[in-house]
Amino acid sequence: MDLQGELVEHPHAVYERLRRTAPVSRIAGTDGLPAWLITRYDDVRAALADPRLSLDKKNAAEGGYRGLALPPALDANLLNMDPPDHTRIRKLVGRAFTPRRVEQLRTPIRATADHLLDALGTAGTADLVAAYAAPLPIIVICDLLGIPEDRRPDFRSWTDALVVPDPDRPAAAKEAVVAMLGFFTELMAHKRARPADDLLSDLIAVRDGEGDHLSEDELMSLAFLILFAGYENTVQLIGNAVHTLLQHPEQSELLRKDPSLIPAAVEELTRYEGPVLLAIRRFPTEDVTIAGVTIPAGETVLLSPAAANRDPARFSRPDVLDFDRDTAGHVALGHGIHYCLGAPLARAETEIALAALLDRYPTLAPASPTPTWRPSLRARGLTTLPVHYNTHPPTPQPPTL
Ligand code: HEM
Repeated sequence: MDLQGELVEHPHAVYERLRRTAPVSRIAGTDGLPAWLITRYDDVRAALADPRLSLDKKNAAEGGYRGLALPPALDANLLNMDPPDHTRIRKLVGRAFTPRRVEQLRTPIRATADHLLDALGTAGTADLVAAYAAPLPIIVICDLLGIPEDRRPDFRSWTDALVVPDPDRPAAAKEAVVAMLGFFTELMAHKRARPADDLLSDLIAVRDGEGDHLSEDELMSLAFLILFAGYENTVQLIGNAVHTLLQHPEQSELLRKDPSLIPAAVEELTRYEGPVLLAIRRFPTEDVTIAGVTIPAGETVLLSPAAANRDPARFSRPDVLDFDRDTAGHVALGHGIHYCLGAPLARAETEIALAALLDRYPTLAPASPTPTWRPSLRARGLTTLPVHYNTHPPTPQPPTL
């Protein structure tokens, strides 16, 4: 198996080897072209915040990067930008996406989680990705943005087409982009005509109001990024967190007994099995030396938060799930000016998702011996998560002699 294949199959094992033997490695990137993969904690954290590493594709060497090409109306987003445009837009979105707005969402998020679990009933077998981890974030993000229920499309099929390209359907990603563009154009027109108390209406007011402006492309790209980023990673984090707890039943029991431990547990679960294997690709604006290796300007640099978060030089016994550990400084949500805008929401959703699930089902067990991970270099997430669940506690087993 080539390195790329190995990384998809066994990311943590390969990252362990790379951190030790080749912390700056030349690999085939997500577009199949050569890229530099950085895996040690100190290097990844420093590079995430290094202003010489640009997110703007115009700094890529000619012919050196052929990643996903979105139309300008979806591509003028924060993850393709450097200061000063990034600073301007991040400030504007900060005015609309406030911590108060996230706090107000906690009660409706819990209601949505309970509602999804009501639909599962008292006992049975289900795929928790399809029934719980995926619908919860899409409902939350659509509520936050103010996307009316009858206009919520099958966003999952679009994001899947972009994140996990299907080799048998090369046109699928392009079709998804066309569908998304149509959806957002129509949504913006609808919101302009009928503003409400939601994030999208507030962003439109910023766009159309006085002072620092958003261009129309920037507005639409921002809405797209918030919907996409707010959905995609959160599904994977909730799924990965539940999967990890199923592998550690004694730790799940601790959380059932004392739910006040859940926020610390979510931080550790995010470090241990966060969904972001690779941060957004970066392009050095000048030659940059990392761990003794000089990377020429314009080449593609891939930083791995997942590898950094299991670096024993930063976290002792990194492959052990330990809710008591100090997780401060983990980079699962990024670092520096591009630090995840939705971090408070991602944390709130994952905490509530776990609390509602553990509260409801004292019996929760895997229904499949092996997890099925999506084949992606970029994001770690499960395709399905089959579980047996029951609202009754497990029957005590007689002691074995
Ligand atoms: C578990 C869930 C999430 C994870 C693991 C995650 C992870 C990340 C990471 C690693 C970055 C930095 C990327 C880089 O520097 O290359 C980022 C940026 C971002 N995230 Fe998240 N995210 C999550 C949820 C969310 C949510 C719920 C939202 C919105 C509601 C969101 C919106 C954003 C945005 C807009 C950025 C770009 C910020 C900027 O460039 O200034 N994310 N996220």
